[in-house]
Amino acid sequence: MPTGIPGLDELMEGGLPLGRIIAVLGNSGSGRSILGLQCLHTGAKKFSEPGLYVTLGAPAAQVRQEALRFGWNLRKLEEQNMLQFLDGSKTKQGLPGEEDFSLQPLGFDLDRLLLEIMRTAKRIGAKRLVFDSLPTLGFNYERPLEVNQALFKLVEACRRLGVTTLLIGDNSLESGKGHEQAVAETLADGIIVLNRGGPGQKRTLHIRKMRATHHADSLHTLEITENGVAVGPALSPLG
Ligand SMILES: Nc1ncnc2c1ncn2[C@@H]1O[C@H](COP(=O)(O)OP(=O)(O)OP(=O)(O)O)[C@@H](O)[C@H]1O
Ligand SMILES: [Mg+2]
Repeated sequence: MPTGIPGLDELMEGGLPLGRIIAVLGNSGSGRSILGLQCLHTGAKKFSEPGLYVTLGAPAAQVRQEALRFGWNLRKLEEQNMLQFLDGSKTKQGLPGEEDFSLQPLGFDLDRLLLEIMRTAKRIGAKRLVFDSLPTLGFNYERPLEVNQALFKLVEACRRLGVTTLLIGDNSLESGKGHEQAVAETLADGIIVLNRGGPGQKRTLHIRKMRATHHADSLHTLEITENGVAVGPALSPLG
């Protein structure tokens, strides 16, 4: 499945393996949400593939507003049933949501969220799904075992749907934090690692794993331009 992100698809035989689960891991501000949203926007506009964006962090209204900076009119795609938000951002705080497809203000309930994901994905015929993000999902649980179970359920639900899924998470291997990321890395069929370096340093992208696909193993720059993200040439071979 071509992501449509400039410079990315050619690093992996033309795109992501269809219907698989890909973890997009990175630190804060590394471009994960923009990359995910761009994949849905391009999927809808260029490939006529409907997409579902599950946001547990930023409210959908904020995501729509930020997307306008890149010239992406998400409202229009939503009206055409080519994009759907599932806004769980208020639910986790126990506040009522403002969106058509917000979850009810009864506190966090993964089963209801998964049911809503399944229903919505089927309704619009979603081919692409972005789940933003695993750490915000993890906030809803006290014990690692509960987080594991939630992740297994989420991944299983996405597999059953057959949608190509981007699970956005932290980069546990580098930061040493985020239990749920370690689990996600094992469950995912592919891992794309983004990194935002220190002040003045470039953002980077590395494909750490992509099952069933030949892929580059080099470190690339990731630019954020007025059109979204774009992957640059290899910085250095990683061996
Ligand atoms: N319109 C824009 N033009 C240029 N750069 C931008 C623009 N919008 C955002 N950015 C850059 O992208 C960063 C945010 O990217 P993104 O939201 O994808 O990060 P993230 O990895 O999802 O992090 P987090 O979820 O922790 O915020 C900002 O910190 C900023 O540096
Ligand atoms: Mg984000």
